[in-house]
Order: sequence, then C-alpha cells, then structure tokens
Amino acid sequence: MKTAETANQLVAAGKGIMAADRPAPAFYDLLRTESIPTDEAAYRAWSELLFLAPNLDEYVSGIIMTDEQVRMADSGGASLIEQVIERGMIPGISPARGLERLAGSDGETVGSGLDGLRERLAEYAALGVGFSKWRAAFQIGPGTPSYYAIEANAYVMAQMAALSQEAGIAPIVEPEVMLWGDHTIERCFAVTEWVLSRTFEALYIHRVELESTLVKASMVLSGDKCPEQAEVDTVAEQTVKCFRRGMPAAIPGIVFLSGGQSDIDATARLNAMNANYELPWKLSFSYARALQREPLAIWGNRAENVEAAQAALYHRAKMNGLASLGLWKEELEGEAVVS
Ligand code: 13P
Repeated sequence: MKTAETANQLVAAGKGIMAADRPAPAFYDLLRTESIPTDEAAYRAWSELLFLAPNLDEYVSGIIMTDEQVRMADSGGASLIEQVIERGMIPGISPARGLERLAGSDGETVGSGLDGLRERLAEYAALGVGFSKWRAAFQIGPGTPSYYAIEANAYVMAQMAALSQEAGIAPIVEPEVMLWGDHTIERCFAVTEWVLSRTFEALYIHRVELESTLVKASMVLSGDKCPEQAEVDTVAEQTVKCFRRGMPAAIPGIVFLSGGQSDIDATARLNAMNANYELPWKLSFSYARALQREPLAIWGNRAENVEAAQAALYHRAKMNGLASLGLWKEELEGEAVVS
C-alpha cells in the first residue's frame, strides 16, 4: 500500500518531520508576542524560509503545512509544495480547523473539521500531499482528562485516519498530553498509557491500517510546574516503558512533538531513548517550536537574516536527525552555525 511506503519514508533512518502548520493568525500573534515587526507578507516569507532552507532534506523527511501553505507560491511565483517535493521531502497537511470546546465538559477540547474532509483530502492528494496530521490536546488537572474527552478525541482522530487512508494519504494521529501543570511524571505516565490504549482501540474500530499510520506523541514528562523534574534518563525510561505498553509494533514509527520543551531537552531526551533502548518502532521528531524557536528569533522578519535563520534551522534539524539515531552529543551543539 502506498500509504505504508509513505509512513516508512517519513521515519527513514536519521530523519524526522518539521511541523510548520501554525495558521497565519496564530503566526501573527506569535510575532507580536515576540515583538517581531509584522507585515502582510510575513507568513509567506516565513513559510518560504522554512520550506526552502538549503539541504534541509538531509534530516527532514516531511513538512506539515496548513491549507494556505499547500496553495502558496514563493516570492517569485513558484509553487512551494512543488519545490518541497523536488527537494525530496513529503508535504503533509494539518486538515483540522482548530480545537473546539467539548460540549458538557469542564473546558476540554476536541479537534474540529471532519465535515467535508473526504473531499478536502482528495484535493490535497491531487496537490501532492502525502500525509496528514490531526491533534488532540489533553490537559492534566484535577479530574482531567476525562474519559469523555479521551473517547471523543480518539474517535475523531480515528475517523480522520480512516478518511486519509481512503484518499491514499498516510495519517499521523497526535494525542498530546500537555506539559502544563504541577503533575508528577507518574501521573503523566498513567494518563499517556490510558490515552494510547483508547486511541488504538478507536483506530481498530475504524479499521485503520496500522502499518501506514504514525503516532505523534508527547514524551512522558514531569509537569512544567512540578517541583521535581525528571532527569533525561528517567524521561527516556518512562517514555519507552509507556510506549511498549501502548504502541503496537505494527506502526512504523512514533514522532515526538516538542510541546514547550527547550530545544536541547527535546533533542537530548529523544537521543537518550534511541541510544539506550532496543525499540520495535522508529522514534523520531516532528517538532515545531524546538526546530523553529531560534530561527524565528534570528530572522525577526528581516530579509537580510534569512540565510542565518536557515542555517540555525539546518543545525537543529541535524541535531535531531542525529538524536533519532542515538548519535547526538552535547558537544555538537557548539558547531558554529550563525556568523
Ligand atoms: P511543537 O513541537 O511546538 O509542540 O509542535 C508540534 C505540533 O505540530 C503540535 O501540533
């Protein structure tokens, strides 16, 4: 099946995914938060910077895009998606239309955008999109996530996965257990194990072929406000233990979101898992913030900084590519990337 081939290519040895699917309004909000000057052309300029970074394909197998980006032309009028394909990377789509409040819940959410998704996916496939990604977000708190939110999200993700496979697109389901809170790593483990078990039950019910499905997962971590922060080796040990319980060996790979971790934490923890454990699936990255935080700051919406920002992006992609093989070392971070 073509989708199984795509899923395997996305987790090819030493490569991972760049998540660039922040929609334009959220991107402009981010620029304002970072006090970066905004203008009408900034979203395209940033997308172009990311997608056309020289040699990114050495470490990046695929790029997750928004609906706007898959239709976007660069400043010279050439299609960006076509250039991504020419560079040997697989374009992906984030087809959801945001998270909505789950009716009757205590502030929990569910991904929206299943309406008309069959037709949209067929259109994306015709544009050259090879994979899709759909996020569910679970906040750990007193009484959350609820059984209700876990079930509702699992069903929506599974429907998206089944529709994607029907369209010849490899699905990535992203059940994110969020970092925010004062919970312990033990609580994060228990919630992640529960979420994974319900997600795979839903994938089974929806007849989703696991061999062509990837999971975008959060690591098992202490909450960001937990007074006791787990060390790198503990994070690696607990994440691998949780995934061995919850992730079938039939899936080709798991790609992590960075979820608010620092750039180095995201790399070091991924590396520790790959360096120290025999695993039945590939473990790689699908980072947004942990790849783009530094490039964005360097760029600052100034054309003269594009090259330096692209060099910083290439460096982070390389570090994470090495981490996906268990070959990263902190000393490598010292390599000069920005002049
Ligand atoms: P982060 O790596 O910034 O968590 O983003 C990944 C992503 O695509 C969330 O849907």
